[in-house]
Amino acid sequence: MGVSTPIYDFLVNYKKTDTISFHMPGHKESDILMRYGYEDFLKNLINYDITEIYGADNLYHAETIIKEGQERYAKLYGAKESFYLINGTTAGILAAVLSSVKKGGQLIMARNSHKAVFNALRLGDIQPVYIYPEIIKGFNISGPIDPKEIEDTIINNPQAQAVILPSPNYYGVCSDIKSIAKITHQYGKILIVDEAHGAHLKFSDKLPDAAIDSGADIVINSVHKTLTSLTQSAVLHVNSERVDIENLKDKLQLVQSTSPSYLLMASLDICASIMQQDGEKLVDQLAENIDLFYEKVENIQGLKVMKSEDIGCQFDKTKINIDMTQIGLTGSQVDRFLREEHNIYMELVSTNLVMGLTGIGNSKDDFDQLAEALIKIKEKHGTDKEIHTPEIFFEKTEQVAISIQTLEQHKEWVSLDISMGSVCATSVIPYPPGIPLICPGERISETAVKYLKALKDSEIKILGLNEKGEIQRIC
Ligand SMILES: Cc1ncc(COP(=O)(O)O)c(C=O)c1O
Repeated sequence: MGVSTPIYDFLVNYKKTDTISFHMPGHKESDILMRYGYEDFLKNLINYDITEIYGADNLYHAETIIKEGQERYAKLYGAKESFYLINGTTAGILAAVLSSVKKGGQLIMARNSHKAVFNALRLGDIQPVYIYPEIIKGFNISGPIDPKEIEDTIINNPQAQAVILPSPNYYGVCSDIKSIAKITHQYGKILIVDEAHGAHLKFSDKLPDAAIDSGADIVINSVHKTLTSLTQSAVLHVNSERVDIENLKDKLQLVQSTSPSYLLMASLDICASIMQQDGEKLVDQLAENIDLFYEKVENIQGLKVMKSEDIGCQFDKTKINIDMTQIGLTGSQVDRFLREEHNIYMELVSTNLVMGLTGIGNSKDDFDQLAEALIKIKEKHGTDKEIHTPEIFFEKTEQVAISIQTLEQHKEWVSLDISMGSVCATSVIPYPPGIPLICPGERISETAVKYLKALKDSEIKILGLNEKGEIQRIC
């Protein structure tokens, strides 16, 4: 063995402890694949790591085994055509946007989109027209996008070619895709739904409708997030004649690796097979386990979990959003206590919330342990002092048009305090959830600076700031 293997060492050490996963990926380790008879796949990972040898087909010119797998997804989801993605929903978003909007064109997009959408803007020199989500005050997170806002925005920006939004968003909040699709199509635009977090929705009546059944033209699912495939594997579904499939295929090969991993593609195949056999049963079981969990924690005083009734819109309850600020605990504190004292790893923290991402690999026991851990945390660390964390916001700030050349050449690092009022040169992104708080060309406001400082105090990772905590502005 070589001398130093830091990543491998981390994995080995991490797996020595018996951790419980409420984060991606959705398989939650080997149990579910073993149960369905795929022990051989797990044992032979290195042997099955091949490239495009004779007979193994080609992702960008699929004729045999890859074509067969993609066709099975199309059938399973009721799509016109489906495409394997080996660079995640990220690649699907890039290809969907670049193939739906001409270079220099306009895209109507939710301001709380994932950073992949903002990167597509850069790649295609595309102008965004933002739509702002409602804010769910009680939980301090982005809510749904209002269909009426979409209609008004289309009317005011008739040249825009497509609309993109996430649904469910990272916290499980869904927009009314049926109404949005109707409006989008009435004005002849393409609707792209970033359904990275909703690959499981198709399989249960107990959860919100899948975007594919609600009329979206392109839907992208991170199969790895909630089902059983390996990290980075995802599927893009085309659902209508409005999509130029040849252009889309060209963009898919443009943004993805030329060495697609057969392990990722095989894991998608395996996932399809499991879902074809038992998809409904597995997702319904997950939904039932979650209902039992919600019942268990409902009466814990000082602990709030988000439910559909609380927020007045469709909600994918497989995302568990927990707020314990009433008993003095921030999202990061609850996250740390869960990890350090109970070996439970959550997906995301915001200032007030900690969120658990569940998948069909989670067992009832995982939920029981989470409920018990939360009770213990309340007993050990809870106080009688409610805390108030800063409110999330999307500022409709002035958007300054800046050329790529200015962005490349005229920028400098400055402290957050000095940056106030300047034009931001990069995206500043709390991660997760990966939604830019400030985009290039937006003015840096006092509120944004205050919020960034609060995020830093809450130990939330912020992409776009340097190690000194400085920000890049146009000079
Ligand atoms: C809303 C949303 N869209 C897209 C992505 C990117 O998905 P992937 O990790 O499959 O590239 C993420 C990742 O977390 C996300 O949260």
